[in-house]
Amino acid sequence: VRVIKAALLGAGTVGSGVYDILQWQKDEMPKKLGAVVELKKILVRNTKKPREGMDSSLFTDNWKEILDDPEIEIVIEVMGGIEPAKTYITEALHAGKHVVTANKDLLAEHGKEVLDAAEEHGCDLMFEAAVAGGIPIIRPLKQCLAANHLTEVMGIVNGTTNYILTKMTKDHMEFADALALATELGYAEADPTADVEGYDAARKVAIMASIAFNSRVTFSDVYTQGITKITAADIAYATEMGMVIKLLGVARNTDTGIEAGVYPMLIPADHPLAGVNDSFNAVFVHGDAVDDAMFQGRGAGKLPTGSAVAGDIFEVARDIVAGSTGRINCTCYKNLRIKPVDEVQNR
Ligand code: NDP
Ligand code: HSE
Repeated sequence: VRVIKAALLGAGTVGSGVYDILQWQKDEMPKKLGAVVELKKILVRNTKKPREGMDSSLFTDNWKEILDDPEIEIVIEVMGGIEPAKTYITEALHAGKHVVTANKDLLAEHGKEVLDAAEEHGCDLMFEAAVAGGIPIIRPLKQCLAANHLTEVMGIVNGTTNYILTKMTKDHMEFADALALATELGYAEADPTADVEGYDAARKVAIMASIAFNSRVTFSDVYTQGITKITAADIAYATEMGMVIKLLGVARNTDTGIEAGVYPMLIPADHPLAGVNDSFNAVFVHGDAVDDAMFQGRGAGKLPTGSAVAGDIFEVARDIVAGSTGRINCTCYKNLRIKPVDEVQNR
């Protein structure tokens, strides 16, 4: 059976999940893929850090060992941050390696550059895990719903803030304690400011809007308000009124342009989004043919996110076996008007 060598960049929450899933799936891969994907190297900052259950002989802190190894066909970037991730991904694509990434920070700001690099070199570039963790949403938007004129994509797209709001509502927990728990559970970003200020959700909205509306929406196009100003008193008032507070990400394709925003909203307790709790996310999509569709599941964490990354790795492996690589998830044309953030804010 064909063996496809891959390198993992990052062995934190997501990287360790990907590692485990690739081990668990080893025997099933030949049937599913006609090949086995094997990790040859794992790039980390600290090669001495003990990492339970992982083969320490694979660790390196030298990117060139991966870049210059012609045997490595797939690079799986789960380090996070813009740099050095952007450089490594671009260099990998230039070297003809396929890339799977979970990096919404990078895609929401520099998506076009890396997608162009993938296209130029005929490489796959997959990023299902960048939006809503384990929930399939990128591929449904790009493929399954592609025959629709999509006008709305909205929902709960950050697990950390949804976890915090759930704990504050149901267990009357303090904001800081709930955030500490979300961090411990591996839901929060390396700097959780990105979660609680809504930046992470805004990045996901930018990525979804770009794909859904066949346009190029970036992080700075998204009006963003987080949950840091929400107090226990706000939660109590909401409960008294039969409502819940949720942080929503909303993107609409209107006659006057695309509007994109992230903000906390009061929603009725019997609304389907009100029951989406803890680290779960949910995304509603509206299209002219499909009508309403909703996608729901775990939006963060080691295994749910690892599931999405590993699914992408499998897709790349299938493409390699079929000799049909060069698949990218978004074209990012700047063809539609995007409403300025103050217009969205004052709406
Ligand atoms: P972690 O902080 O847990 O892990 C990051 C890993 O990357 C660590 O192993 C770290 O090495 C390594 N790393 C970071 N910078 C470098 C560098 N410059 N050179 C080499 N290695 C480096 O992050 P997560 O696993 O939580 O997140 C990874 C990515 O996945 C991010 O883009 C995040 O936004 C995204 N994501 C995360 C989700 C989650 O639920 N956590 C869900 C969806 C996406 P070392 O261990 O030595 O420090
Ligand atoms: N920090 C992110 C969240 C991880 O809480 O949703 C998943 O993208």
